[in-house]
Amino acid sequence: MKKLIYAYMSDCSDPKDLILAASIRKFGGSLSDNPIWVLIPKAVESVTKEMRDLFLSMNVELISFSPEDELIFPFITYVHAAANAELLAKEKTKLLAWLGSNTIIFNEPKHFLLDENKNLGYRPVHHTNIGSFFDEPIDPFWEQVYQKCNVSKEQIFPMKTHIDHNKLRPYFNAGCLIIRPEKGLLQSWWNFYKYLFNEQNFKDYYNKNYIYAIFIHQAILSGVILSTMERSELYELPFDYNYPLNLYYNCPVVYRAKNVNKLITVRYEDPEDLKKVPLQDPLKSWLINQIDNFFIKTLSSAEKVKFGKVSLVYPIPIILAGALVNNQPNFETLGDVGIMSIKPPLVYISSGQNHYTNQGILENKTFSINFPTTHLLVKTDYCGVASGNEVDKSQLFNLFYGELETAPMIRECPVNLECKVIKEFSIQHRQIFIGDVVQSYVSEDFVIKSEEGQIIADMAKLDPIIYALDNRYYKIGEIIGTGYQESKKFKQD
Ligand SMILES: Cc1cc2nc3c(=O)[nH]c(=O)nc-3n(C[C@H](O)[C@H](O)[C@H](O)COP(=O)(O)O)c2cc1C
Repeated sequence: MKKLIYAYMSDCSDPKDLILAASIRKFGGSLSDNPIWVLIPKAVESVTKEMRDLFLSMNVELISFSPEDELIFPFITYVHAAANAELLAKEKTKLLAWLGSNTIIFNEPKHFLLDENKNLGYRPVHHTNIGSFFDEPIDPFWEQVYQKCNVSKEQIFPMKTHIDHNKLRPYFNAGCLIIRPEKGLLQSWWNFYKYLFNEQNFKDYYNKNYIYAIFIHQAILSGVILSTMERSELYELPFDYNYPLNLYYNCPVVYRAKNVNKLITVRYEDPEDLKKVPLQDPLKSWLINQIDNFFIKTLSSAEKVKFGKVSLVYPIPIILAGALVNNQPNFETLGDVGIMSIKPPLVYISSGQNHYTNQGILENKTFSINFPTTHLLVKTDYCGVASGNEVDKSQLFNLFYGELETAPMIRECPVNLECKVIKEFSIQHRQIFIGDVVQSYVSEDFVIKSEEGQIIADMAKLDPIIYALDNRYYKIGEIIGTGYQESKKFKQD
């Protein structure tokens, strides 16, 4: 009989689900070698070989179970997985740690080893959500939960939420439950949840506010715990367990973890959460490396699908190309634009043969390239569907002219290039114009003057429109590094 088995659910498609197992092995201290089970709601064979091998390399047992496909509802498969894990764990282990797959162990979770007289280790929910304030009269939703789960009023005691420290009626977090399998708590949870979620009384709440659908699994869990266990059997794990790193900055400073590295187990939503909180090395580097490595390893083994003859060079910055056509400014939206050389500064645009803009470019041998911000999305798309052959686009923007005098530029666009055509040729139905950049212009709000000279503000501030071959527009994300510098971290194996 084992002292403790860790278990969590994963469909093994997301490499970040490997982190929990890796962190147990690395930081679990005297509990780092305990068995880890991953409950998979599908056949083990349908997991990619790479993911299987990575789990196996950490001595993780992959256990398949059949979800009840006809039951479609938030967390229904999760609760089912928990019940399966508990059933399997009977007679194999004294304690089962049922964890959300987005848990990471930072330090030995010694409080998982419950005292003999305790039958459940838990943490309260992170924040109030649909919780019921202890000092207020009970609301009809919780009244229903208690009635359906046979909870009597005497069993109710106050519990403080992790982040907002509100005093609620018992409301347990479902992602960190230390249970004794022989008690059958997780199976009772499943048995109640799979019938109750569908009850009309509860459906009325989902219709009013979908948040009830998302969190009712924890409400039912709370009802089942209260009706099957005495308060004396319950053990509230310390504050540094199940700590929600994704809510770190939502937490009032007084309640915030003083030293993130000393937390015992944490939860996160996105690996980016780990970069944002004040984590220190070596833990921080270890985590980021693990995440990057797991992603690269799984990607490197993925089968490649032939996608056809598609110019999949993307993402693409969207620009507005400007020209004077019959002395009237005209702009067209282009994604087929690029740099041919930095020194000399040569750029190209590729524009459909019959486009109105082309006439002006050919006439004056000049054009402009303007980078719209996302605030100009609607007008930018308009310039890409309406042709100067049919509509007047000359009044859409505030304009200015530079040295060449025949390349209209858009003031609202923070970056503009004024180009002189040095070569023009056609390929099939396209006309390609190669431009020598005679001057570039940046709106002064976007110029940063430093000791080294002038630099343009970062991309997030420039906020260009990005286009991809899924025909969607995107915004630029976060800065992830510095050019010519990241390579310094490269270590050859
Ligand atoms: C997102 C987007 C990207 C586009 N990219 C190009 C392109 O790279 N080349 C091109 O010839 N047309 C492109 N177009 C289409 C032209 O912008 C469109 O035909 C426009 O009406 C031409 O205007 P004009 O006739 O006034 O010159 C794009 C349109 C959109 C919406």
